[in-house]
Amino acid sequence: MIPIYRPYLTKENLQYAHEALDSTWISSKGKYIGAAQEKLQEILGVKHVLLTNNGTSALHLVSRVIHRLYPGKRGLITGNNHYVAAWNAWEYESHFRLSTVDADSETWNMDLESLPEDHWATVISVVHNLGNIVDVPALKLKYPKAIIVEDACEAFGGLYGLRYAGTESFASALSFYGNKNITAGEGGAFLTNSDEAFNLVKRMWGQGQSSQRFIHSELGFNYRMTNIQAAILYGQLKDFPEIFERKQAIWVRYREQLKDWVEYQKWEMGTQHSLWMFGIRVPGGEYGIAEKFFKRQGVEIRPMFYPITKHGHYKKIRGVMKVAEDLSRECIILPSYPELTNKDQDYVIDTVKKYVEYI
Ligand SMILES: Cc1ncc(COP(=O)(O)O)c(C=O)c1O
Repeated sequence: MIPIYRPYLTKENLQYAHEALDSTWISSKGKYIGAAQEKLQEILGVKHVLLTNNGTSALHLVSRVIHRLYPGKRGLITGNNHYVAAWNAWEYESHFRLSTVDADSETWNMDLESLPEDHWATVISVVHNLGNIVDVPALKLKYPKAIIVEDACEAFGGLYGLRYAGTESFASALSFYGNKNITAGEGGAFLTNSDEAFNLVKRMWGQGQSSQRFIHSELGFNYRMTNIQAAILYGQLKDFPEIFERKQAIWVRYREQLKDWVEYQKWEMGTQHSLWMFGIRVPGGEYGIAEKFFKRQGVEIRPMFYPITKHGHYKKIRGVMKVAEDLSRECIILPSYPELTNKDQDYVIDTVKKYVEYI
């Protein structure tokens, strides 16, 4: 079976993890925490980076800090077809009134044209679906009174203009889960350019500890990353240019060879996709049929994220879901891991063509 994803773990990039284990610094202290944090800061050009145990906790810190710093802003607007954590992080705070707009049939991100009029009470959470980058600087100009944050968990390496995704909003979250462009096994990062947000988040991230050890000034969490995770991440960051280059080659081959057969996610002008996952849309297709078809051919695929109302705890959400439903029926996510060979990719491409002919 050709898998949907496989992390790029080499002997060279894992050497730091082995060293971290040998050093016995296996919890959340150790030299790789600072090293990975600095490297990430240097690559992204963002003022503050805080490593977390996963992307969900980084995103919870985003919602928590908005709740604390802007208590009057309770309306939370986001897309309706994301990975579930992108909504959950806001629900954890029981403060925000979550509402969604339908997806855009071309970008597969939230339809920016149907965002409501600017309003003082609004937070907009941008999710870069599959790594397709929303032009956040343009959105900031259009909605100057809204607080804009990013769930950049799928967006590491993507750009708006010359800036990396996740660096231009008030705060954002990255994920380093095993299937992400760079991984720490599990892991994440909170990013912000705001000193105030960073200082608050840093306290909440580490059990709300005050300057006096074991005296806690507020309710906090344990969202720390371990030194072992940070060491894996450090190795991955060093290999990031190579990982990205490999993914670029895969993207070019897919786009070139499937252009007359299927549709792709459209990129916003002036943005660069993070190349996390390669999705295709087959008009008239049916995901359930596709999954069985590809499985018989030995190719693992996955669906596009389902509309929010498919999930038990979000059935109450109202709003138009039409495009999100169409996308989850017709889209297929194909294998795109950095070590995918040309031979295996050619096989996947042939299987797509056979599927298109089949339906
Ligand atoms: C859009 C989005 N948000 C949040 C998350 C949560 O990240 P994690 O799995 O690291 O907790 C993910 C992860 O997979 C994601 O794709």
